[in-house]
Amino acid sequence: MNLLLRLWRSSLGKKYVMALTGAALVVFLVGHLVGNLQVFGAPDLINQYAHFLKSKPLLLWGARLGLLATVGLHIAAAFTLLSLNRSARPVAYATGGAYAATSRSRYMAVSGSVILAFIVYHLLHFTALNPAVNGVGDFTKLTTDLHGETVPDVYAMMILGFNVWWVAAFYLIAQALLFMHLSHGLAAMFQSLGLRNHVWWPRVQLLARVVSVALFLGYASIPLGILAGIGSRYAADARARAHLAAAPSSAATVLAVGPASAGKEVVR
Ligand code: HEM
Repeated sequence: MNLLLRLWRSSLGKKYVMALTGAALVVFLVGHLVGNLQVFGAPDLINQYAHFLKSKPLLLWGARLGLLATVGLHIAAAFTLLSLNRSARPVAYATGGAYAATSRSRYMAVSGSVILAFIVYHLLHFTALNPAVNGVGDFTKLTTDLHGETVPDVYAMMILGFNVWWVAAFYLIAQALLFMHLSHGLAAMFQSLGLRNHVWWPRVQLLARVVSVALFLGYASIPLGILAGIGSRYAADARARAHLAAAPSSAATVLAVGPASAGKEVVR
C-alpha cells in the first residue's frame, strides 16, 4: 500500500498509472467494438448478447465499477501530470520542435475532455436510456421476444438511435477525437513504460496508428452503416409497435417506410 502511494506521488508513477489504465481502456474498447459489431448480424444476435450481459449482474457491475475506477485514475493522473508540467514551466515556449510536447499534452487534455463529455452522453443515451437525449423517444418501450422472453430490443435502439443525424454526427466527431487521442496516447504509453529507442520508436508509432485507425473504422462503421440503411425496415416496425415518433426523414427511413409516411407521427 505504502509502495503504491509512493509510486502515485512520483511523476514516473503517475505515468505508469496513465499507461496501464490507458491499456486497460483500449482492451475495453476492443471488446466493446466486437460486441457492437454484432449489429451487422441478425437482430437476435446483439439482443442476445445484451441480454446475456444484463443477466449477469455481478459480472456487469464488477466490470462497470472497474471501468469507472480505471477512467477515474486515468483522468486524475493526466490532470496532476499536466499541472506538474505547468508549474515546472509556467511560461510557454515560443517554438515547437522538442517542446511541442507541451502543446501535445494540452491537445490530449482537450480531446480527453470531449471524450469524457461523449461518454457521459453515451451513458445517458444507451445505458440510462434517457429519452431527452436520443431525439427518438422512450427507448424502454422497445422490447422484443427472445426465445419466449421479453427483453430490451437493443438492435432497434441502435438503428433508431443512429438514424437521428445529429446523434450520428456527434458519435462520429467523438470517435475521430478518440482516434487522435489514442494514436498519441498508445505511443506515449510505450514510452512511459521505457520502450523508446531509435529502433523501436517508429514501429511503436506505426502500431499505435494502425490500432487507432482500426478502432476508428470499426466504431465509425456502425453509425455509417445504419445511416446507409442497415436494419431500417426492422426498426421502422419496432418503432411502430412501440408507438414512438417517426424519425426525421433520413435516407434510411424513407427507404424503409416510403416517402409518404417518413417524418409523420405514428398515431397512438
Ligand atoms: C458506435 C459506437 C458505439 C456504440 C454503438 C455503443 C453502444 C453501446 C451500448 C448499446 C451500450 C449499452 C450497454 C447496456 O447497458 O446494455 C454501451 C455502453 C457503454 N459504452 Fe458504448 N458504444 C459505442 C461507442 C463507445 C465508445 C467509443 C466508448 C468509449 C469511449 C463507449 C463506452 C461505453 C461505456 C463505458 C458503456 C457502459 C457500459 C455499461 O453499461 O456497463 N462506447 N455502448
